[in-house]
Amino acid sequence: MLKVIYNNYHLTINPIITGKKTMQAEKIGEDLYWVGAKDWNLREFHGYATPLGSTYNAYLIMDEKKVLVDTVKHYCTDEMLARISQVIDPSEIDMVVCNHVEMDHSGAIPKIMELAPNAVMVTSASGKAALTEHYDTSKWTFQLVKTGDTINIGKRNLEFICTPLLHWPDSMMTYIPEDRYLLPNDAFGQHYSADSIFADEMPNDIVFDEAKKYFANILYPYCMQAGKALKQLADKDMKMIAPSHGCIWRDSKQIKDIIDSYAYWASGENKNKALVVYDTMWGSTEAMADAVKSGFEDAGIKVVKRSLNHCDISDVAVDLLDAKYIAIGNPTLNNNLFPRVAAFMAYLKGLAPKNKTGFAFGSFGWKGGVLNVIQDTYTEMGWKTPLPPFETKYVPRSNILEELREEV
Ligand code: FEO
Repeated sequence: MLKVIYNNYHLTINPIITGKKTMQAEKIGEDLYWVGAKDWNLREFHGYATPLGSTYNAYLIMDEKKVLVDTVKHYCTDEMLARISQVIDPSEIDMVVCNHVEMDHSGAIPKIMELAPNAVMVTSASGKAALTEHYDTSKWTFQLVKTGDTINIGKRNLEFICTPLLHWPDSMMTYIPEDRYLLPNDAFGQHYSADSIFADEMPNDIVFDEAKKYFANILYPYCMQAGKALKQLADKDMKMIAPSHGCIWRDSKQIKDIIDSYAYWASGENKNKALVVYDTMWGSTEAMADAVKSGFEDAGIKVVKRSLNHCDISDVAVDLLDAKYIAIGNPTLNNNLFPRVAAFMAYLKGLAPKNKTGFAFGSFGWKGGVLNVIQDTYTEMGWKTPLPPFETKYVPRSNILEELREEV
């Protein structure tokens, strides 16, 4: 057993379970340490499939003032404290910056504020309000910041950039101009737990695919706010972007690529691509999905076909991000949407993508009309709907499938 003792707080760490090496604080820059946690076994993050796990990145800045930027989920608190304690007694922390109150980043804040009673909590006004709605903050000292405010911590300054709705109203970024480090919290993150904390030491495609999936599922509803944030960052020279999930960007080409990718994703531009997403009970709607797919291909449009019985909706969201045409196929069940299609429609409405063209198709047994629910959702989201829903009774014959293919 490894015993870590500080400020009367005792941690007992079982190196067999945790692995001694995984508990190390990692020096990632000048006076900057990664003291977060890797959640290797996380497979779901509020409805988002995370097959590669995730990380909650917390950063310790060792200047004249000792500053902790963000924390970890509550069940990773001991792991974070063990890492911090390798660099400093947590009671010596002077300042805790809360860039975002969502509990994957604030879960360990109550324990830190208890261990470091003199620490000042630095956050936005909406951050203070949200922290108070989550935790007992009655004994905390707050210092509220807004965009452009700076706090000197010794050799360097912390500059704050409020980025509301990236991903909550309280979200902000911390920039260190002397080092050119950006700590943007959720932005530029990925749900990816890897052996290296640096993006340039991991397969480039995986890191960017996970960053795209993160944007598509977490930040897609806030494209306008993402665009504004990018404008706020335009005059910031960045040597390192250290988000609060996944890998840290420090390679100059990767930094440029992830910023360019965010600009593209936030723009709402589409590729000449169709997403055919469907479910099926007895194969009728699947046969129709194939006909729809062929119709798009005949028109020279690239297609991805996703069965909701086989694909997680958070993976389908990645295809949604840059597809111009969305065709949703539903088999009617009890005069209603099929449950997995209904779940997808609820997720779609939450993501609220703009600038798409929608089409609804599907089969029914004895009563049609439920496809109007899909068509109405397209209309609510402001999508183009050049075609009415296409439905067929029971099993579509070849002439019906041909008609569908030609209609698309
Ligand atoms: Fe990673 Fe919005 O929390």
